[in-house]
Amino acid sequence: MSENFAYPVGLRLSGRRVVVLGAGQVAQRRLPALIAAGADILLISPSATASVEAMAEAGEVRWERRRYQEGDFEGAWYVLITTDDPEANAAASAEAEARRIWCVRSDDAAAASAWTPATGRSEGVTIAVLTGQDPRRSAAVRDAVVEGLRDGTLAAPRHRSRGPRVALVGGGPGDPDLITVRGRRLLAEADVVVADRLGPRDLLDELPPHVEVIDAAKIPYGRFMAQEAINNALIEHARAGKSVVRLKGGDPFVFGRGMEEAEALAEAGIPCTVVPGISSSISVPGAAGIPVTHRGVAHEFTVVSGHVAPDDPSSLVDWAALARLRGTLVLLMAVEKIGAIAAALVAHGRAADTPVAVVQEGTTPVQRRVDATLATVGEKVAAEGVRPPAVVVIGEVVALSSRDHR
Ligand SMILES: C[S@@+](CC[C@H](N)C(=O)[O-])C[C@H]1O[C@@H](n2cnc3c(N)ncnc32)[C@H](O)[C@@H]1O
Repeated sequence: MSENFAYPVGLRLSGRRVVVLGAGQVAQRRLPALIAAGADILLISPSATASVEAMAEAGEVRWERRRYQEGDFEGAWYVLITTDDPEANAAASAEAEARRIWCVRSDDAAAASAWTPATGRSEGVTIAVLTGQDPRRSAAVRDAVVEGLRDGTLAAPRHRSRGPRVALVGGGPGDPDLITVRGRRLLAEADVVVADRLGPRDLLDELPPHVEVIDAAKIPYGRFMAQEAINNALIEHARAGKSVVRLKGGDPFVFGRGMEEAEALAEAGIPCTVVPGISSSISVPGAAGIPVTHRGVAHEFTVVSGHVAPDDPSSLVDWAALARLRGTLVLLMAVEKIGAIAAALVAHGRAADTPVAVVQEGTTPVQRRVDATLATVGEKVAAEGVRPPAVVVIGEVVALSSRDHR
């Protein structure tokens, strides 16, 4: 076989001595994987980069501040030569060869007895790529494989059954690009997806035909509450051995009833993974050009549900306290009650001319923004026919970007 062909192998280095010569950029890049593998690392170098020094200080490597000496490889299983001293490298390489220790050389790949592959990890899979003399191509292939596994575009189904399980996945505010990489991968692996009306519905169109998509709003619930019926559907499909994703808008734990589902699954003994999502409370204002905080303008933002009117006895919100805050208020589920909420804030002392923006269907192609003040927002929302889903932003941050929206 050619000189460029290497036999791939996975070294199990836990507790085994690895000697690294040199503590510059190359060593800095290689050390984390050796540390992660649990190797007993002896680092020999008169000086080190700040990052390598930190590893030594943290006790992750034993650092001897000196140059290489004959005999340093005694007891080693593997050595890495990364110094820029050609004579020391040649002598060290000769010692490794004489002792039959696999040896990587950063200065001269052709003289080395081992090569470091470009490596990556995704969900328990290690990818290692060797191309002989083209490390950039190795890195590019590694990146493509890791990326494909992460986002699910490289289909690699698991064949060992992991038992019933459900993933509660935050799908982000609506734009299908705003789901996390992990969420997208779990969706690509799902057999059953239980989806809400809110959230990135476009993602559902990408699913292969065998995936059963269940509209959570249409699950028949007879004598159960709707939420209980959804919980039961998740449990039943998981028990039937299906890989189940509960796809929710925004983040599952921000007014998403995610915890109720997690608790129901725990009670049923079904493991559940929660994948955070980008919440509309921050991203929808952002998509409309409104930062929820801004230096010198707002040092806090408060996210509140507006689904219950301020004078409703079931309300858990202290509107008087909120009215006293100077920062940004972000209201979700507040379109219907916005007139009463704005009036309560003004009654409790927030200035009537405080700028307000209402952003409907943020991050989607039909996003729109309506600007008002606390005094006018109730009327304006009605006059302009604003419909849910919409996020209401109240505070001076709105004025930072409102010129084009009045
Ligand atoms: C039941 S809550 C769920 C919130 C979600 N878990 C999150 O983190 O974004 C639904 C409310 O979120 C807001 N919302 C969600 N997606 C939105 C979007 N794309 N544009 C505007 N508001 C949105 C609306 O206020 C809507 O009434």
